[in-house]
Amino acid sequence: MPITTSDHPPLPLPLPQLPEWAAFVAAAKAASIRVNDLRLVTAAGLQLDLSGQSQSPAMSACAKALLNTRHFDSLRTQLLAGQVANATENRAAWHTALREPAPIDEVAAERRRMNEFVRLADSERRWRNIVHIGIGGSDWGVRLAVSAFGYQGMWRNVRFVANIDGHAIAGGLAGLDPRDTLIVLASKSFTTAETLQNGQRAVEWLRAAGVANPMGQVVAITARPEVARAWGVPDAHIFKLWDWVGGRFSVWSSVSLTTSLAVGSEVVAGMLAGAAAMDAHFAQAPAAENAPIQMAMAGIVNRSVLGYGSLNIAPYDFRLANLVPYIQQLEMESLGKSTGLDGQPASVPTGPAVWGMPGTDAQHTFFQWLHQGSDGAPVDFIVCQEAEHDWPEHHKSLLANCLAQREALLRGKTYETALDECVAEGMPMDRARWLARHRVHTGGRPSNLIVLPSLTPYTLGSLLALYEHKVFVQAVVWGINPFDQWGVEYGKVLAKGIMKELSADNAAENRASHHDASTAHWVKAFAKSLGV
Ligand code: F6P
Repeated sequence: MPITTSDHPPLPLPLPQLPEWAAFVAAAKAASIRVNDLRLVTAAGLQLDLSGQSQSPAMSACAKALLNTRHFDSLRTQLLAGQVANATENRAAWHTALREPAPIDEVAAERRRMNEFVRLADSERRWRNIVHIGIGGSDWGVRLAVSAFGYQGMWRNVRFVANIDGHAIAGGLAGLDPRDTLIVLASKSFTTAETLQNGQRAVEWLRAAGVANPMGQVVAITARPEVARAWGVPDAHIFKLWDWVGGRFSVWSSVSLTTSLAVGSEVVAGMLAGAAAMDAHFAQAPAAENAPIQMAMAGIVNRSVLGYGSLNIAPYDFRLANLVPYIQQLEMESLGKSTGLDGQPASVPTGPAVWGMPGTDAQHTFFQWLHQGSDGAPVDFIVCQEAEHDWPEHHKSLLANCLAQREALLRGKTYETALDECVAEGMPMDRARWLARHRVHTGGRPSNLIVLPSLTPYTLGSLLALYEHKVFVQAVVWGINPFDQWGVEYGKVLAKGIMKELSADNAAENRASHHDASTAHWVKAFAKSLGV
């Protein structure tokens, strides 16, 4: 069990009240991207190149002072020791305990149960089909690992169903043999409407196919085993996670049962080891060489000093397509807050919108906006030095594209260079002057380059933990709680109310009385089309 304590550092003051913040902002404004200075940090098998970020010795000194005044060291210690880090829900956020090389007994016991379940299923060649039902943190991490390591195909068919849209579960079950299908329900709370409704449909599908014991083909992973039990899942099929593991951090728990069934328990073990190595780096490396800290401070400059509203994630690796939504949830559910821990409005812009797509697809989709749009966005380029396929020409092109896009964003192209090019192409001078303006790249657009030696479970685990810790550092500086998600909860409550209004047993005259005009209109219209 995590240790709890009321021994918190004082509530963080709004940033503008801190001289350390004013000094950091001034230093960041005076700093610049120094294209001729290489700035590399190595961490847990990854190389983080920060050369594309503003830097100066003054900025580093001010960052250190800012972290000190935010009690960063003691907050990091509390986080890693499983003390209360999530103040608004009064609980720990102890996902790091799940990847400790020598985990606490209850974690080790659950992992043994999971591995044994997989070993047995594999030795009996059971469960040709797996339907993993879960959403958000109960989905993205597993999807990411399975697509990263199972992209060449797996002997099991693995389907993911998250969305409440009935087409998702219809497609998820279509064509599968119900007798050899395992339904994995992943839900920390076991109250999530999407997961329970989709789970219900899957059980009905098993029953309709004449499966004698449908619940014998259902597995649940949850922090509320009693609710799963009441739902009918047999004890032997309930795998536990804990209240002190946030939903968006649950990839490190038995939620990864599906990963093990799909691509092997050794993949899960490798991811845990990589994440543990990043945890150790985060805990021990001095600030100037600490990858999560350095990445976090660069992100704070980009968001809160330079005013960039978004962060683009560009994995130059087809296998990492699902990294984008994974990081989206991690960053935006964690940092999408505008109330500080002191209960006052956060006084500087906090977490950016996160978006992206693997390169090189992204180059043909939205990179034009990154290069020449009026806003631009910092970009995290992520690439593997070695590829696993047999076509070195492809990998050479991928690497070249990644470096080229980053360099173009960094260095830009001046009017003079563009004009010289136009003239060299033989254009008349008038046209050359006019066209050159269209070919100018502002440049100076910030980026990170994260280089993995190759994509392995270890490096993927390390990469995910890098982002987790970066998010934590940013939350400490911004003075917000990265571990709650009250905004999402509010939408869930409203949806429940509207569900009732769309139900036949609700009196029509009570319907929609408290809504805004538009919602009221559509509740009535949809009730009509639903025949209510
Ligand atoms: O999106 C809100 C959220 O609570 C996430 O934090 C979580 O990952 C997801 O819903 C699913 O929750 P659960 O695992 O409890 O079904």
